[in-house]
Amino acid sequence: MKFLVSAALGFSLAAARRSELLPREEAEKLGVIWRGNSSKQSSHELLEATEMPSDFTWCNKDGKNYCTMSRNQHIPQYCGSCWAHGAISALGDRIKIARQAQGVDINLAVQHLLNCGGVGSCKGGTVDGPYQWLKQMSEKGTGIAYETSNPYVACSSDSSEGFCSHVDTSCKAVNVARTCGSFSQEGGPCTGLSAFPNATISDYGSISGADAMMKEIFNRGPISCGVDANPLLNYESGIIKTKGEGVDHVVSVVGWGTDSKDGMYWIVRNSWGEYWGEMGYFRVQKGALLLEDQCSWAVPGSFTAAEKNNQVHCHEGGDNCKAKAEAQVVV
Ligand SMILES: *[C@@H]1O[C@H](CO)[C@@H](O)[C@H](O)[C@H]1NC(C)=O
Ligand SMILES: *[C@@H]1O[C@H](CO)[C@@H](O)[C@H](O)[C@H]1NC(C)=O
Repeated sequence: MKFLVSAALGFSLAAARRSELLPREEAEKLGVIWRGNSSKQSSHELLEATEMPSDFTWCNKDGKNYCTMSRNQHIPQYCGSCWAHGAISALGDRIKIARQAQGVDINLAVQHLLNCGGVGSCKGGTVDGPYQWLKQMSEKGTGIAYETSNPYVACSSDSSEGFCSHVDTSCKAVNVARTCGSFSQEGGPCTGLSAFPNATISDYGSISGADAMMKEIFNRGPISCGVDANPLLNYESGIIKTKGEGVDHVVSVVGWGTDSKDGMYWIVRNSWGEYWGEMGYFRVQKGALLLEDQCSWAVPGSFTAAEKNNQVHCHEGGDNCKAKAEAQVVV
């Protein structure tokens, strides 16, 4: 009886979960280049293939942690934005690597990508899209905003979950980076900023297969990859060995290890909060969950940081950094 109940529950959970990855045709309709690379010869191909260590993770490399914050895509309400979280987390780590883990961590605004990326929403996205959007924007001289100017609210324009029908997530200055300097009854509207801390990328690409993943991670940092999430829903700890049936979720891979019994496994950060899995992470055996099928990487370009002395210093009310279009929106 007990078995029947849990089997039925397992089935309904599996049936209820909808994919957070768009099929190829839908991705291409959004202008995403399937498994695209920013240059004809991907710079990944130029990386040296050295002998790989049996254990390697950016969360503890020579005693240093290069992993940035864990995130939760499903708070304050459900949002199928795994694809944005996987890409932004891996890029955040790579910025931390570029800074040799010095200074306060830079956390990038997932919500900027949701509001302006046009490559996905709370109803799903792609592995390739986020870096393709950011590269295009980087070429025009602006990067992705930081979390403190545009916090994650788990809403997109096509979502009516939770409080989302009351939230304007359209792509305009206040929804890229904003300040709200006083209460609205005091005449203090929210102001979109013309200058704000941001990070660009100089290069991106797509890879698949365990060897390419190891080479990319070892040489340049974490990557974002598709995965079959159904076996992950009730995961608690340990090394997952389920083969997987279809990729429907995106995560960031930070390294690998070798288990005496299960052999090589990947160390992976999810975006379901730290109460899930192993403090927000999981381990999966090499070859399992279709994790090696499709991955993306990006190379950081410029970013705003204290040590670079390149910040534009905005006032609390934003008067000296006011964006021209859509300067004021009362919310
Ligand atoms: C991008 O580069 C990878 C190798 O780094 C290659 O496997 C893939 O086919 C390339 N994608 C396209 C669309 O050419
Ligand atoms: C982006 O950051 C750079 C410094 O990293 C800064 O010079 C530039 O003004 C910023 N762009 C915007 C739109 O704020």
